[in-house]
Amino acid sequence: MLSSARLFQAVALPYQLVTRHPVWERHCALMAVDLPPGARLVVDLGCGPGNSAKHLRDAVKGTVVGIDPARAMLALARRRDPRLALVQADGIALPLRDGTADAVALHSVLYLLPDRAAALREVARVLRPGGRALLLEPQHRTAAGTLGGLLSSLDTPLWALVASLWRAMSSMYGALTPGELGHALEEAGLRVLRLEDAFSGLGMLAVAER
Ligand SMILES: C[S@@+](CC[C@H](N)C(=O)[O-])C[C@H]1O[C@@H](n2cnc3c(N)ncnc32)[C@H](O)[C@@H]1O
Repeated sequence: MLSSARLFQAVALPYQLVTRHPVWERHCALMAVDLPPGARLVVDLGCGPGNSAKHLRDAVKGTVVGIDPARAMLALARRRDPRLALVQADGIALPLRDGTADAVALHSVLYLLPDRAAALREVARVLRPGGRALLLEPQHRTAAGTLGGLLSSLDTPLWALVASLWRAMSSMYGALTPGELGHALEEAGLRVLRLEDAFSGLGMLAVAER
């Protein structure tokens, strides 16, 4: 399958155009609410055009490092928020020392990675004790659950398009169930504090502590 980094390099601009949507923005802000108090170093892994990174940066006094292998995404993130520190790198080998980050956020990233267990171990490695992993992921759903989530988005046509694209991408790369995500986090040495539905049940928000 086409690596997601190459795919997102090619579609960076259209991705930015469709995701500058109030529902997406609201969920980015929601993820930032669970940052540990007083966080100074926050990593946004798979930062893309900077949607999630900008909201994290608004919420912390210190540094937000956006990491993404797609150069086109990093260029958009730089324009979106010049306060971000941006690094071109792969999530499987983060350019950070052990136990240094207060939080690592992944918004719609884990499901794209070929070795999710290794990626979560890398997240756990860079988190300080008490640091948090914040994940917003598409949720593997039954057909009825998916239909319900998509129907609830129909009142806003652009959001229905974003939700359908997100759904198609997660079918292609394979979304996790909440149980699978919780298990993967625990296996990586992280303690799950919260795991709940997001995006009208199409997605899930997980907060886990090292
Ligand atoms: C769906 S986008 C998420 C963008 C962003 N978090 C947002 O707020 O909209 C997924 C991002 O993950 C990045 N990505 C893909 N493979 C990656 C990898 N191995 N390591 C880190 N990021 C990766 C892609 O380049 C893309 O920018």
